[in-house]
Amino acid sequence: MDAVLARAPVYGPDLFHPDALRSPFGHYQALRDLGPVARLAHPDVYVLSRYDEVRDALRAPDALISGKGVGFSDEFNTPGGPNVIQSDGDLHGRLKTEVLRPLNIGALRPHRPLLKEMIAARIGELVGEGPFDAMTEIARVLPPRAISFLVGLPEDGRARMLDWAAAAFNALGPFDRTFTSDFSLLAEAFGYIRNQSRDTVREGSWARALFDAVDAGRLSEAEARGALSAYVVPSLDTTILAKGHLLHLLARNPDQWRLLREDPALVPNAVLESLRHSSVLRWFSRVAAKDYASGEVFIPQGERVMLIYPSANRDERRFPDPDRFDIRRDARSQLAFGNGTHMCGGQHLARLEMEVMLEALVESCETMEAGEPEIGANRGLYGFTRLPLELMPATAR
Ligand code: HEM
Repeated sequence: MDAVLARAPVYGPDLFHPDALRSPFGHYQALRDLGPVARLAHPDVYVLSRYDEVRDALRAPDALISGKGVGFSDEFNTPGGPNVIQSDGDLHGRLKTEVLRPLNIGALRPHRPLLKEMIAARIGELVGEGPFDAMTEIARVLPPRAISFLVGLPEDGRARMLDWAAAAFNALGPFDRTFTSDFSLLAEAFGYIRNQSRDTVREGSWARALFDAVDAGRLSEAEARGALSAYVVPSLDTTILAKGHLLHLLARNPDQWRLLREDPALVPNAVLESLRHSSVLRWFSRVAAKDYASGEVFIPQGERVMLIYPSANRDERRFPDPDRFDIRRDARSQLAFGNGTHMCGGQHLARLEMEVMLEALVESCETMEAGEPEIGANRGLYGFTRLPLELMPATAR
């Protein structure tokens, strides 16, 4: 590293104040305006919020590592065993190869008809029936019934998965006394996973395949359990909240909904554009394993760096008029699933769930009306706790 080129400006407001968590985009704009790299006053970390800088950091896994944790709390960063999201190099490669097996496009294809049928049946019951809460009645339908079944945990674990996921993302930190219950839920999740073996999980399930990898000598027992946490923690809430944003954006932008109904081939891009516009995962962090230069700023070895995905996705330098939801925009380069070696392992499943939901809506409903959503204050995830929605059938015109 040649020289210190510039000092990062400090951003004072607390990004983790409940008001900021419920309304984060003004803060993200201010951070992007401040410069390519800034430093937060609390917690004391570097922060990247512009598109190019976030993408480049995600593509530099040797310099900015995940193995020292991607959160701000010790409870999240030290789960007591290996896991995909917080590992580097060979270990990460081996874990991810096994985790990805059931999650690639080809492996997921056979599940599409059943997932579509289940969500279409649910939407069919709701069309023309007056207002309902879309988070409970639509967004949360598939995960507990279908996805947790595919993962294959015993019934008691399946019932807890949603609570564990929300707690885990909240426990990312920074540390706060109000987290006590989330930390104990996180510990419960990790403890539960540690107790699983090939005999406790369903035959033919994704979890069983991980224990088969132990028998085949590709993973150790501890690694199989670590890989299992990848199906339990990041798989449900993320997709549920993303569906809420997609429904809300289409209901609030009738021109875009009309476009979609006229041309259902736009469904996959509408999904990506909603992920770009309202990215669910707020941030993860890395630690600089060596000195790292981002733009004009030098980040010294040992420093923690926060990466704000939703801000990168609203960067006007990359996406013109970024606050506008436009399903014809080329949204393929959005970073809602991250990028590079740690890019989301479940993105094809998430997109599949969102696509079948949209297809079912386009087929059975003519107009959607959304009320005011209630926005949650989870520290890791941006999404609604409640979304009033009404679906009108084609015949009601
Ligand atoms: C809309 C839904 C989802 C969003 C927005 C999302 C977002 C993300 C992001 C941003 C990362 C990058 C982590 C990093 O940069 O360190 C990630 C990683 C990951 N996600 Fe997702 N995710 C979603 C759904 C899922 C689902 C359904 C699963 C599993 C079935 C899943 C499993 C994973 C795993 C295993 C990783 C770690 C990958 C690695 O470290 O190599 N995600 N996700």
